[in-house]
Amino acid sequence: MKNYESAIVKRLYSATPEREWNRLNQDVFHRLEFDGTMKFLKKHLPKKGLILDAGGGPGRYTIELAKMGYDMVLLDLVPENLRLAEKMIKKNKVEKRIRGIIEGTITDLSLFDDNTFDSVICLGGPLSHVHPLNDRKNAVRELRRVVKKNRKVIISVMSKWGILLATPMGWPNVVKFNSYVTKFAKTGDDYHFAGESFCHFFTSEELIKLLKTQCLKVTDISALEGLNIDNETTNEFEREHKKAWKNWMKIHESVFRESFAIDSGGHMIVAGRK
Ligand SMILES: C[S@@+](CC[C@H](N)C(=O)[O-])C[C@H]1O[C@@H](n2cnc3c(N)ncnc32)[C@H](O)[C@@H]1O
Repeated sequence: MKNYESAIVKRLYSATPEREWNRLNQDVFHRLEFDGTMKFLKKHLPKKGLILDAGGGPGRYTIELAKMGYDMVLLDLVPENLRLAEKMIKKNKVEKRIRGIIEGTITDLSLFDDNTFDSVICLGGPLSHVHPLNDRKNAVRELRRVVKKNRKVIISVMSKWGILLATPMGWPNVVKFNSYVTKFAKTGDDYHFAGESFCHFFTSEELIKLLKTQCLKVTDISALEGLNIDNETTNEFEREHKKAWKNWMKIHESVFRESFAIDSGGHMIVAGRK
């Protein structure tokens, strides 16, 4: 990863560790990501063991999995996230399960031996912040290298079609800069959006290919937000139409493994076996 890109990702996250901690719990829309991810993890993680939470931010999943009895190593690029994680780990009284809190990058996990972990998770889009494609390949190769044979790497990333579908609701002003949006639709690369960040948004086809080229056998892929494209509309739907929302969730559950739903939501999640 080029240094200036890792620097802008660091700058973005170092200013907002609390926001990152609250992100998954802030409203119904974001709970879809968290609940969908936990359901997926429960299906694919072994019953117990040592898990690497790579790009784990302030540790929401580390803490949740530690509460379930897993031994956890948390790794993130941003020290501010890790400092908050230490606080939240203490507050949640799961210190005994935490085997390491490490500043590092998913593109170079050389401090871990091959075949160390019973599973590796990389959730909420750390891989979306890695650029260019060759570095994303390195990252997936590293995530695979450190997981034990026959065990799974579980990755969630942000969706290119999902963000394009949400654009008219969320960012009509950005569309004014036609060449910017046209380039994004082509490449999935969001360069310095609002001058704050770099992010690569994936199609499901591209994500599957990336895992396959790094010798991970894709065993499952799912939508997280699925049919719920935009947070304000989703939150209002749940608030104003409780009964309809319950039915809508049943519909969501019945289609969240369909390819159109995987690509239309904010995030998709995939499991790849070594
Ligand atoms: C949207 S947050 C997700 C955090 C956490 N996994 C979650 O789902 O709550 C993305 C995280 O990726 C981290 N990150 C970005 N690039 C990274 C890299 N190259 N190596 C490790 N972590 C990285 C950021 O610091 C941030 O904590």
